[in-house]
Amino acid sequence: MKTIGDLGDLRGKRVLVRSDLNVPLEQTERGATITDDGRIRASAPTIRMLSEMGARVIVCAHLGRPKGEPEPKYSLAPVARRLGELLGTPVVFAEDTVGEGARKAVDSLEDGGVVVLENLRFNAGETAKSEPDRAEFARALASLADVFVSDGFGVVHRAQASVYDVARLLPHATGGLVEAEVNVLRRLTRDPERPYAVVLGGAKVSDKLGVIGNLLGTADRLIIGGGMVFTFLAAQGLEVGTSLLEREQIDTVKGYLERAEQEGVEIVLPVDVVAAEAFSADAEHDVVPVDAIPADRMGLDIGPESADLFARKLADCRTVFWNGPMGAFEMEPYAAGTKALAQALVDVTRHGGLTVVGGGDSAAAVRQLGFADSDFGHISTGGGASLEYLEGKELPGLTVLDGDGDGDARDGGAA
Ligand code: 3PG
Ligand code: MG
Repeated sequence: MKTIGDLGDLRGKRVLVRSDLNVPLEQTERGATITDDGRIRASAPTIRMLSEMGARVIVCAHLGRPKGEPEPKYSLAPVARRLGELLGTPVVFAEDTVGEGARKAVDSLEDGGVVVLENLRFNAGETAKSEPDRAEFARALASLADVFVSDGFGVVHRAQASVYDVARLLPHATGGLVEAEVNVLRRLTRDPERPYAVVLGGAKVSDKLGVIGNLLGTADRLIIGGGMVFTFLAAQGLEVGTSLLEREQIDTVKGYLERAEQEGVEIVLPVDVVAAEAFSADAEHDVVPVDAIPADRMGLDIGPESADLFARKLADCRTVFWNGPMGAFEMEPYAAGTKALAQALVDVTRHGGLTVVGGGDSAAAVRQLGFADSDFGHISTGGGASLEYLEGKELPGLTVLDGDGDGDARDGGAA
């Protein structure tokens, strides 16, 4: 993969940068406010570097999942403002992505100037399944620039116009963020220092089945919490009350439990949970053992004994990857499990182990719970992307960067 240094003298060149600026927003009466700017901070260094090289920097990104047409609540305007604050230089915001507004904003850029284009997903071509539709939008994007820098690690698992197709049309390079993320994840897939534990949480087991299957071949311990754990408990024949349960996955999970045993991978499940009457911060709730979850209650966090157990299982680890909260941490009564888990990772970091927190949501969770980025070895900006990387899947946004951007059909092809 080429890096920015391989692009030569960029002074006066128009550089299109794909960043992942998909940050959580809170909609208030005065407009949207950013609740966690981690992805903007992580994206700023590449943008700053290009600007300092004298390039005319055109940043493109998506926000949320609008359906191919403008939706004001998903405007990137507040993100552009925040980026300007972080860079300490004015950032121009273009009111559309490839239309008149964008063209004018790009034309008026001086060397070192930065423009942020409006949300890519306001255009149906960005996420179109049909390749010609995507290619048409990619051509419009490419026509704004001379070269392309791919720096949105959180979207490299998406074969979308601004991630994949545009790299086939322009000379391109890998940005510093994508490079750094890939370097860390590569350490997890190739010969990680052992013991190597993976902690998985979050709501849906079906999102994680692929990665679990692959991890049974690489990790020493698999620690599971969050909503997805109830499908594991059900697979062991336990009653889970009204907890989240993906019944159709029970058999697959049973198969994984058997495979883990054969392959000598330890699967660690909670021994107690916080069981609540409803999904609400003021619902009645108690800690109960996992074999005594009342029929009318739902588990919303791992219990204190489980938190201790998980911490003990992590204490001697040299490598830990964590994706997904242990409970409904946004509500204070169910935050203790996620907090304890984060603390266990901090301790591993302190003892010189490599800890990686994967995913925009998990990253936002640890910051919201008061931890600093420096408490962990690496906080990945990609959730789905980092999981798919660990799953061993080919990521279209990475493979396409191996091509030379001359429009050759082989670039980033299935090879
Ligand atoms: C994310 O937040 O997961 C990335 O920005 C990708 O967004 P998407 O899941 O909507 O494609
Ligand atoms: Mg996602």
